[in-house]
Amino acid sequence: MTAGPGYAATPGAACVVRAASATYPVYIDWNALFDLGLRLREAGLTAQAYIVSDETVFAGYGKQVEAALAQADIPVASYTVPPGEASKSLDTAAAIYDWLIQRRAERGHVVVALGGGMVTDLAGYVAATYLRGLPLVHVPTSLLAMVDAAIGGKVAVNHPQAKNTIGAFYQPSLVLADVAALRSLPPRELTSGWAELIKHALILDPDLLAFLEERAGGVLRLEPEPTTEAIRRSVAIKAKIVSEDEREETGRRTVLNYGHTVAHAIEAATEYGRLPGQGFLHGEAVAIGMTAAAAVARRMGLLSADVEQRQRDLLERFGLPTRAEGVDRTAVLAAMALDKKVRAGAVRWVLLEDVGRTVLRDDVPQVVVEDALGEVLV
Ligand SMILES: NC(=O)c1ccc[n+]([C@@H]2O[C@H](COP(=O)([O-])OP(=O)(O)OC[C@H]3O[C@@H](n4cnc5c(N)ncnc54)[C@H](O)[C@@H]3O)[C@@H](O)[C@H]2O)c1
Ligand SMILES: [Zn+2]
Repeated sequence: MTAGPGYAATPGAACVVRAASATYPVYIDWNALFDLGLRLREAGLTAQAYIVSDETVFAGYGKQVEAALAQADIPVASYTVPPGEASKSLDTAAAIYDWLIQRRAERGHVVVALGGGMVTDLAGYVAATYLRGLPLVHVPTSLLAMVDAAIGGKVAVNHPQAKNTIGAFYQPSLVLADVAALRSLPPRELTSGWAELIKHALILDPDLLAFLEERAGGVLRLEPEPTTEAIRRSVAIKAKIVSEDEREETGRRTVLNYGHTVAHAIEAATEYGRLPGQGFLHGEAVAIGMTAAAAVARRMGLLSADVEQRQRDLLERFGLPTRAEGVDRTAVLAAMALDKKVRAGAVRWVLLEDVGRTVLRDDVPQVVVEDALGEVLV
């Protein structure tokens, strides 16, 4: 295993998150699910476990996870919700509370979130609030959840009018990602997940970027060695940043928003996929957003055209969009203006000066933004 930011000497762990409120290992391996019972035992989590999953993920992995826990003498019960963002709601959380009460869940019992980011956010929110907090184990099964949602302790459900508005910072006791589970992920979800992984390389790790360029073929084919390595290194970066700024207080965590200024505006302008023919998965919007941010940085004289091209080539190699047709540019600008108003000030851009070197700028002229958007929204 290559050493990188955040790697630590916990046996078997890919990295350790050292947040102010908690320190926990992240295990990332091909076929890691077989070790789940052992990892819970090592962490002292041997009381009753409650698996929360979505129906799709549970159909694929539920029995295996139940067996892994049973083998370690950990009693287990399971609850599934319909797949999809609509399940990330207070209503679903309330239904899970009902189930936990009916099962007489107690302090010290463990919630195991098995699924994509919808499940890790929902089950994490339930774990954070039920009896003021049950130990939480994240078992992310989507690429987005492995490299992003399961790391860093943000948990939430959606309000009907606003995403992720009801939530908490609540760190898990451990995270275990089985890279082999990505083989059953729908291809578009997989592609979308690469965006955040590539983002981590761009903002903080030139070595990871070079690795992705060199090993793209194997990673895209989900070969165990390069895929596991890429995910470990990407997670180590997110782990390092959230360790430095758990609650988004120092501004350190802001670099993770690279590409997100425009991505969020595109998502809002296309009504989060509700407009016919215009749905973007989050990672797709982030890829377009990073391309726009690179155009802004180049126009500001911060970033060379070569690095901009390198970013574009890599995103495209991984099957991600770097431009979009038919998105209403005015609506995107309006969404950005609204965001600015909500934040009472200027739009804070995370821009690249080079691979691994970011700068925060709140003085990007409107005309630069409009020209950059003109390049990606055609
Ligand atoms: N907490 C955070 O820091 C954070 C960060 C980023 C995103 N998120 C949240 O994550 C959510 C998106 O996560 P997501 O993209 O994983 O969505 P998701 O959980 O809805 O999963 C996407 C789809 O893939 C399926 N799936 C997942 N793993 C699978 C597997 N191994 N095999 C087959 N199918 C599988 C799911 O059933 C679902 O249909 C959003 O709610 C977002 O707000 C949270
Ligand atoms: Zn994101």
